[in-house]
Amino acid sequence: TLNQHYEEKVRPCIDLIDSLRSLGVEKDLALPAIAVIGDQSSGKSSVLEALSGVALPRGSGIVTRCPLELKMKRLKEEEGWHGRISYNDRNVEIDDPDDVEKMIREAQDEMAGVGVGISDDLISLEISSPGVPDLTLIDLPGIARVAVKGQPENIGDQIKRLISKFIRKQETINLVVVPCNVDIATTEALQMAQGEDPDGERTLGILTKPDLVDKGTEETVVDIVHNEVIHLTKGYMIVKCRGQKEIKDKVSLSEATYKEKAFFQDHIHFSTLLEEGFATIPKLAEKLTLELVHHIEKTLPRLEQQIEAKLEETHAELDKYGDGPPQDPSARMYFLIDKVTAFTHDVINLTI
Ligand code: GDP
Ligand code: NA
Ligand code: MG
Repeated sequence: TLNQHYEEKVRPCIDLIDSLRSLGVEKDLALPAIAVIGDQSSGKSSVLEALSGVALPRGSGIVTRCPLELKMKRLKEEEGWHGRISYNDRNVEIDDPDDVEKMIREAQDEMAGVGVGISDDLISLEISSPGVPDLTLIDLPGIARVAVKGQPENIGDQIKRLISKFIRKQETINLVVVPCNVDIATTEALQMAQGEDPDGERTLGILTKPDLVDKGTEETVVDIVHNEVIHLTKGYMIVKCRGQKEIKDKVSLSEATYKEKAFFQDHIHFSTLLEEGFATIPKLAEKLTLELVHHIEKTLPRLEQQIEAKLEETHAELDKYGDGPPQDPSARMYFLIDKVTAFTHDVINLTI
């Protein structure tokens, strides 16, 4: 069964990566992760909040101004909800899911300044709850075409450079978010992902806002999801999240899940996509979890090589320091003189 598969295969993989992460391995090695990219207001944060069940800062204009790592951990039914946000040297527990949005905004203001600037520094948000999938996702600032008041002229390039840093890594799965009401062929995010990953082997397309599709273009959207327009090895999924009006009307995230399913069931053109398993957030969560495990299995040999290389490098570094200072005071004196002499020679060699 799926549950058994999960306990036997998925969980150990994710635990392994998590324990490597918590050992701080990530500073030296790239661990598998999922990065979410797309144009500004394409629906990236909406997809993430639907997956996590937690409201994130979201809206029009530039809202996501720092990379946000969202680590989700699935707990047993009786274990409740735990949150924690980390940035700079800060580490704050969160007791109430309703506080998350405000705390991210505060963290962003501290890292990127109040206003419309961006920063490369990572904010890490950990959410443990029975309602989330075991996934780590990274939300990134959206690609902006023109600078708004208060932003540097080159903000577009700054954001693209930041996004490239993440999607370039072989260990990253790229989720490219594209609204149904724009021409996918001109989407800059998809072009960037294709630049780094020409065959789309680690790129998954996510179509959003199916309720806003232009009349008459529905068949094209179906063709895109069927992977017949711009081919990606990992293919496409389509989801519907809360629009601005539903947010205003305080439609909850769980209500939105029902409405999403009903939307696809009732849609003349898109109901087949639901039947074929290409639609809805819960299906996306399932697919992402399996993709991540598959990806981890594929990158493990590379990870092992990297760990061995790092280990060798560290050993060599350690050898350079010899046996360390001796205990005996006079021996220690000679030891220090040796070191200083060696150092002086090095400096002289370097300067001439
Ligand atoms: P981001 O800038 O890519 O992170 O985009 P956001 O998630 O902040 O979404 C931008 C706007 O699009 C928000 O007002 C959302 O409510 C709205 N939105 C997102 N997904 C959908 C959708 O499926 N349908 C509709 N109608 N609006 C959506
Ligand atoms: Na936005
Ligand atoms: Mg956003």
